[in-house]
Amino acid sequence: MKESRKFHPHNLDILNDPDRLGWENPDVIWRELGLTDARVLVDIGAGTGFFAVPFARKSPAVTVHACDLQEEMLAWLREHLPADLQGRIKLVKMEETTVPLPDGIADLVYMINLHHELEDRGAIMAESFRLLKKGGTVAVADWKKTETPMGPPQEIRVTEAEISADLQRAGFRDIRQHPVLPYHNFVTGRKSGGGPAFPSSSSSLPIR
Ligand SMILES: C[S@@+](CC[C@H](N)C(=O)[O-])C[C@H]1O[C@@H](n2cnc3c(N)ncnc32)[C@H](O)[C@@H]1O
Repeated sequence: MKESRKFHPHNLDILNDPDRLGWENPDVIWRELGLTDARVLVDIGAGTGFFAVPFARKSPAVTVHACDLQEEMLAWLREHLPADLQGRIKLVKMEETTVPLPDGIADLVYMINLHHELEDRGAIMAESFRLLKKGGTVAVADWKKTETPMGPPQEIRVTEAEISADLQRAGFRDIRQHPVLPYHNFVTGRKSGGGPAFPSSSSSLPIR
């Protein structure tokens, strides 16, 4: 039987390790996104809310739809949801490739440490495109396919070029690589139709 790539809920404490702030700090990612007006966020593969919680706190106007496939992750997040964020982080049980939310609701769809677990990357990219407003941003951050001090097995990791190509195939434009994280590729794209430009640390490399 094929071994599952999915993060095992028994290892949930790893996701809450404060050491992560040193190498995949939510504030660094948020700053790089530069989305001062983002209101509706969709977090695909939210886990324990390591990103959903700080992103929701960026503004009282922000709502995060925290989506996950595994009921155990959603149950943990439900139980530990900070009081000030009740009602602003909405828990969503999704299936492998479908999110039960309407078309065109999101300013930002992001997925962090998810890409290597996906069974159908193309389908999730298409679903992200569907969920975004015109001008909305998709952001993917996942482990570099090189030696790192921790992280999933290298053979299941995805290269920056593959992530960029996934985004392009799904119809995203203005695809940019953001070299701001030591162990992660961080790539964004935009659903055409207007919207924010990215700050200067991003680069628009050719897609290989
Ligand atoms: C490694 S954890 C990362 C969690 C969080 N993004 C973080 O970085 O702290 C990956 C999460 O994605 C979820 N997941 C895996 N495949 C998924 C899919 N197709 N749709 C939604 N969630 C998925 C897993 O259940 C797990 O909670």
